[in-house]
Amino acid sequence: ARVVVLAGGLSYEREVSLRSGRRVADALTRVGVQAELRDVDTTLLAGLTVDPPDAVVFGLHGPVGEDGALRAVLDLIGVPYVGPTAAAASRAWDKPAAKALLRQEGVPTPDWIALPRSTFSDLGAGPLLERIADRLGMPLVVKPASGGSGLGVHVTTDASQLPSAMIGCFAYGDVALIERYAPGRDIAVGVLDTGDGPRALPAVEIVPAGDEYDYAARYNAGASTWHVPARLDADVTMRLAEAALDVFRALDMRDLSRVDFRVAEDGTLAVLEANVVPGMTETSLIPMAAEAAGLDVGDVLADLVRIAIA
Ligand code: DAL
Ligand code: MG
Repeated sequence: ARVVVLAGGLSYEREVSLRSGRRVADALTRVGVQAELRDVDTTLLAGLTVDPPDAVVFGLHGPVGEDGALRAVLDLIGVPYVGPTAAAASRAWDKPAAKALLRQEGVPTPDWIALPRSTFSDLGAGPLLERIADRLGMPLVVKPASGGSGLGVHVTTDASQLPSAMIGCFAYGDVALIERYAPGRDIAVGVLDTGDGPRALPAVEIVPAGDEYDYAARYNAGASTWHVPARLDADVTMRLAEAALDVFRALDMRDLSRVDFRVAEDGTLAVLEANVVPGMTETSLIPMAAEAAGLDVGDVLADLVRIAIA
């Protein structure tokens, strides 16, 4: 099969995406799939139309790659791709929409409020933010309603910190998701479906170098350490895997996704999100989880390509 691996583009996650794309292309090449890494720009569509590959694999993080837009276009030109449909990607990429659906399905996710930039004038939004702080309680996490890699994420412990957190968040998008802070450890669970139904990969426990698993903690070598499988009771491990599968199904994730959790000391689970194009860099979690499950990332991706083409 001939595969185009999409990466780069002009999102805030460009550099991460190039690293993911390179690793994906290398892994596919290693198992005998002809994979070409393509930095996404305005000439992409013409290229794909004139010389369509057998399938597209997304290493493209951020909008375009994760919001469903490009998937819809690939549907129109008849090029199959790995990962969720345009509609499913669009919903999962929109964190408030995804959380609403998860809540409706009974999956635990922290309370939240979505606040568009337009409600936040140059004069501020003092009383509104006070009300939100009263309603949700502290601490809170402020993050772009759509985004990735921990960019624009701020934890506030006092209502007075909300305005600057909002400003920081609006640098990355026009809607802020204000979410109740879920205490505990960051745990990620990959879900993989290579044709015989979704299965949860071993949970990855993240030990960030600093307080938060932010951009630097994610992508600087040596900044974070991991435990795979996560250091959890058998009972929590089982509930975690079940919850990850629930999320995968509820959001119609298809093929491969990574569900991010916070797990409190008492075993309470909180789902933060499911990733449409999970990171595949040297410090990313899905490759670690696959390896811990005894899987070769190249073989996994090749299987997903085969399924996309079939
Ligand atoms: N957005 C980053 C790449 C991730 O979810 O892994
Ligand atoms: Mg994410």
